[in-house]
Amino acid sequence: MIKNILILNGPNLNMLGSRENDIYGSDSLADIEQMCKKKSGKNGQAIDFRQSNSEGELVNWIQDALGKFDAIIINPAAYTHTSIAIHDALKAVQLPVIEVHLSNIYKRESFRHSSYISMIALGQICGLGKTGYKLALDALAELNK
Ligand code: DQA
Repeated sequence: MIKNILILNGPNLNMLGSRENDIYGSDSLADIEQMCKKKSGKNGQAIDFRQSNSEGELVNWIQDALGKFDAIIINPAAYTHTSIAIHDALKAVQLPVIEVHLSNIYKRESFRHSSYISMIALGQICGLGKTGYKLALDALAELNK
């Protein structure tokens, strides 16, 4: 039963709302957190929503998730394209993972076309803005059925 979900956000996502709004939308990360709280409540899920600019902190949070959470939704931001450490941590805890990106990374610069996360994720949702987070919560709810 997937009930407790850790939602992780990587570097610069704390600047949403004032950062490249044409790409990322005008909602702040706090707005997205509120949306996730509403959605998870409806789905009977409990969430812990976090953001860090530090790769090491994200790795620590992933390691600590073992035994406390049933799944991880992660927008690793720029670390998507660089972090073997986050890849390894997610692989180590073996929790179901859904990767989310606000923007369609495949329509953007070529350095954003590869992800170290997608090969160990159940699935990836990108290009749908904040809706991607809601869809990820719904996908995890569906897995319980
Ligand atoms: C992002 C896409 C990444 O390439 C970028 O570095 C981000 C945000 C997204 O949500 O679209 O910071 O993960």
